Amino acid sequence: MNLSTLKKRLSARVPMPAKHRARRALRALAPGEPVDWGDLRRLRPFTTWGIERGTPLERYYVDRFIAARADRVTGRVLEVGAAEYATRFGRRVRSVDVLDVDPANRIATRVGDLGTPGVLEADRWDCFLLLFTLQYPRDLTTALAQSWACLAPGGTLFLAVPGLTRMDPDNRANDRHRFTPVRLRELLAETCGDAKVEVETYGNLLVVVAYLLGLAAEDLRADELAVADPDFPLVHAAAITRRRDGRPGTPPGG
Ligand SMILES: C[S@@+](CC[C@H](N)C(=O)[O-])C[C@H]1O[C@@H](n2cnc3c(N)ncnc32)[C@H](O)[C@@H]1O
Repeated sequence: MNLSTLKKRLSARVPMPAKHRARRALRALAPGEPVDWGDLRRLRPFTTWGIERGTPLERYYVDRFIAARADRVTGRVLEVGAAEYATRFGRRVRSVDVLDVDPANRIATRVGDLGTPGVLEADRWDCFLLLFTLQYPRDLTTALAQSWACLAPGGTLFLAVPGLTRMDPDNRANDRHRFTPVRLRELLAETCGDAKVEVETYGNLLVVVAYLLGLAAEDLRADELAVADPDFPLVHAAAITRRRDGRPGTPPGG
């Protein structure tokens, strides 16, 4: 057993009031050194998403996740808001539909709230790129169930959902959900049953701080970007592929 595991085990046995007393005593013995905040002592970020400086950090990870599975961005593709990922990553794409809740989106071929049943037909698309959107619908369960049910047999649902991220200043009124790795896996198990589920969680303390400050991937080194610390998840990416012989568009228990 290593030292950190031993500390955790011992700490779990100490009652909370004793822990607080011990922490206060330690603080009195060794007060924290002053921190040099430098450029970071600021109340506003450098940019909103980092795009003015380079690649937004959450895109750095999610783009790589999709690129590694680009063979599944194929056939009849559905994407939210724009056809950007279908165009960049798609292979042998037969058609692209764009879903948006916003009726002003001129390229939308489907207009509706993903959280409202009946917005998407069942068993229709080979790939649904549901990226950076699942934080908005009020009815998250319906949104995910409908996104799963709209896949044809063998189709893949790609998800990108936020972990420790900022509010969306352009859609504050609808910015509702953030995800922990545990909750995301629970939701996928409840919705997609025994389908093939791949989930990656990206980020670490430095990445999350850089993201909140509006910095970009180019502001960090590759070795810093590569560290995944489960205590500081910036973004989760998932690919869930429906079995070819799976029951049509039916979530478990449905
Ligand atoms: C941040 S963009 C993400 C999608 C874009 N493809 C991307 O990768 O950035 C969010 C899009 O989802 C749409 N949207 C927000 N809430 C929605 C909902 N409940 N149902 C369907 N679309 C929604 C917004 O209008 C917007 O076009």
